[in-house]
Amino acid sequence: MLSRTRILFVCLGNICRSPLAEGVAQYILEKEGLKLVVDSAGTSNWHEGEAPCDHSIKIARQNKVDISQQRSRPVTKQDIKDFDYVIAMDAQNKSDLENFGFTNVYKLGDFGDYKGANVPDPYFFPGFEGFEKVFKMVDVCVKDFLEQECR
Ligand code: 4NP
Repeated sequence: MLSRTRILFVCLGNICRSPLAEGVAQYILEKEGLKLVVDSAGTSNWHEGEAPCDHSIKIARQNKVDISQQRSRPVTKQDIKDFDYVIAMDAQNKSDLENFGFTNVYKLGDFGDYKGANVPDPYFFPGFEGFEKVFKMVDVCVKDFLEQECR
């Protein structure tokens, strides 16, 4: 395990999916006493400064993960230098990140037997059910990523 590995999870708004990925990763790192740096950001600045959406906070809390203190921020050029791993939630995020200048961008669905699937954007689906599905996928993939890449 590289003690200074830095991981950035990215989605579009940084209020639904990537805050969950950051929260799950942080939860695992704290539980296992690992000293990686994790953060999340959006490819847009549409929700800059906002807390995660209520459904994401709720599904995280149901799984003992507190993401309520996170605040949305857009990706920056400095992030290109600062992070060892950049993990996009879907193909559009990945392509936007590459156009912005990031290289070696992973998709979260490349891990955990999801065969490269996109993490669906629950923002566009009303109701809580979408968030339960997203949490399960994020949880499995983040755990698998940490096992594969960071041990
Ligand atoms: P996220 O979801 O990318 O998972 O944070 C979205 C949040 C907001 C918007 C789109 C997706 N929006 O269009 O404002």
